[in-house]
Amino acid sequence: MNNNQENKNFYVTTPIYYVNDNPHIGHMYTSLAADILSRFKKLDGYNTFFLTGTDEHGQKIEKSAKEKNKDIKEFVDTISENFKSLTPLLNLQNDDFIRTTEPRHKEAVQDLWQKLQDNDFIYLDKYQGWYAIRDEAYYTQEDLILNDNGQKVAPTGAEVEWKEEESYFFKLSHFQDKLLQHYNNNPNFIAPKGRFNEVYSFVKRGLKDLSISRSSFSWGIPVPRDNKHVIYVWLDALTNYISALGYPNIHNPNYQNFWTNNSESLHIVGKDIIIFHCVYWPALLMAAGLPLPKKIFAHGWWLNNGQKISKSLGNVITPQKIISTYGLDSIRYFLFKEVNFGNDGNFSDEEIIKRINNELANEYGNLVQRTLSIINKNFLGQLQVTKYSAEQMNYLEKTNNILENCKNHINMQNILAYINEAWEIIKYGNAYIDKSAPWNLIKTNKEEAANILLFIVELLKRASILLNPVMPNATENILQQINFPKNKINFCEYKNLLPLTHNINQNSIVFNKFIG
Ligand code: MSP
Repeated sequence: MNNNQENKNFYVTTPIYYVNDNPHIGHMYTSLAADILSRFKKLDGYNTFFLTGTDEHGQKIEKSAKEKNKDIKEFVDTISENFKSLTPLLNLQNDDFIRTTEPRHKEAVQDLWQKLQDNDFIYLDKYQGWYAIRDEAYYTQEDLILNDNGQKVAPTGAEVEWKEEESYFFKLSHFQDKLLQHYNNNPNFIAPKGRFNEVYSFVKRGLKDLSISRSSFSWGIPVPRDNKHVIYVWLDALTNYISALGYPNIHNPNYQNFWTNNSESLHIVGKDIIIFHCVYWPALLMAAGLPLPKKIFAHGWWLNNGQKISKSLGNVITPQKIISTYGLDSIRYFLFKEVNFGNDGNFSDEEIIKRINNELANEYGNLVQRTLSIINKNFLGQLQVTKYSAEQMNYLEKTNNILENCKNHINMQNILAYINEAWEIIKYGNAYIDKSAPWNLIKTNKEEAANILLFIVELLKRASILLNPVMPNATENILQQINFPKNKINFCEYKNLLPLTHNINQNSIVFNKFIG
C-alpha cells in the first residue's frame, strides 16, 4: 500500500459467503469481479483494499451443521477454509478474509448494536410473522406466493415458517425519508439503474421496523446485556464491511482510509441481496451516525445451459471443475466477456470453447506468437529501430485514450466495455501486421520489418498491461516473453515507450486451442 496517495483509496467488498454450502460459480463470479476492479485500481496508482470472507452465524448454518451431525464450530471452520482456498485457486489479491465468528467481528457488531441503542433506535417487542430460514429474511403475509405444489412460500421460493417470539426491533420505518433523500442526492449509490429503481420503489412503498434479534436458537452474537437473544444474522453480517477495517476503532488507518470520505467504497453483491445492502445497511449506518458506502453494484445470476443452478438439479458448477478443464485465466476472461456485468449469464461449454479458440488463441495468442517468432527467428530476439512513423505515433496516442476510456468503464463497473475497449488494440495489431506483412519485408527491407515488429511489441505491451487485471497469469507470461519487467506493470509505464533498442525473450504458446 502506498500511503502518499491520499484521496486515491478504493475499497471493494464481496458479500460474505454462507458456510452452509461449498463455493460455486456464483461465489466465484463476485470474488473475481472484485479482484478485477481492485487490480485495475492498483495499476492506476490507487491504495486498494479488497475484502471477502464468510458469514457463519444464524439458523441456516445451525440447521445445516445439525443435519450433518457436525459440531457447529468444526463445521463452520471446515467450510470457511474452503472459501479461503478460493484465494490461491482464483488468484485473488484480497487484503483480508473476515469470518463473523472472529472476536474482532463480535466486538464490532456489539458496538454497533450499542450505538443503535444509545441513539434510541432499538426497542423490545413481540415478533409475529413469516420467516424463511434459507433467505434468513422476514416476509409479510402479502409477500408470500404460491409455489407449484400450492404451498405458501417466500417470493424467492424459500419455505417459510410462522414465528412468534420476543424480539428487539430496529426503527427502520424512521429512515424512509432519509433513505429516499440519500438516493435522490446520490443517483450512483445503487447500480445498475434498474436495481436503483427497484430499491427506490421498495422504500417508497413504506418501511416496517425490522426484527433484529432471535431467541429461538443460540448460534449467533449475543445481544449486549440480554443473553437470551442473538443478533439477527444480517445485522451481524453487514457489519463485516467495517469490522474488517478495525471498527470500533475509528482511528484504525484502514477505517480512516477506506470508510470515510476519502474512499471510493464499493460493495459488489448479487441481485438477490440488494434490499439488505441498499436499505437495511445504510439505515443502520445512519442510525449509528457512521459514514455510508459510496456505491452498491448488483450483478446478475449465472444459469447452467439455461437452467437455474441448484443442488437438487445436480447442475452446480464448481470453480475446481471449470478451472481444471479450461484454465483459470480463460474462465476469468469468459465470465466477464460473455455478459454485461449486471445481467444474468448462461454458462455453456460451447460458448467458452468458442471464446478460447476464436478470441484468446486466434486473436490475442496468435498475434503474440507470430510477432515474437519472427523476431526470434530473424533478429535473434534483438530489435533496433530509429523512430516510429506518424501513423504509428498516432495510434499510440490513441491507445492513451483507450486507457482513459477503460478507467471510465471501470468506474461504472462496466467490465465488459473495458475488455472490449482493450481488445481494440489487439484487433488493430492483427490488422496492422496483416497489412504490413513483416514476414515478406524481412527479405527486402529488414529495417522496416524491425520497425513494424517493435511497434507490435509495444501494442502487445499495452494490451497486456491493460488486460492484466482480467488475466493476470497469461498477461504476465506475455509481458515476460516480450521482456517487460513485472514491477513495471502499471498505467504509468503503459504510456512510456519501450526503448527503441529492445531484446525479447524466448517465446512460447500462451493460449492453447481447446480441442474438446
Ligand atoms: N451471506 C449472505 C451475504 C451477506 S453479505 C453481508 C449471502 N451469502 S450467499 O453465499 O448465499 O451468496 C453470496 C453471493 O453469491 C450473493 O451475492 C449471491 O447473489 C451470489 N450467488 C449465488 N448464486 C449465484 C449464481 N448462480 N450466479 C451468480 N451469483 C450468485 O447471501
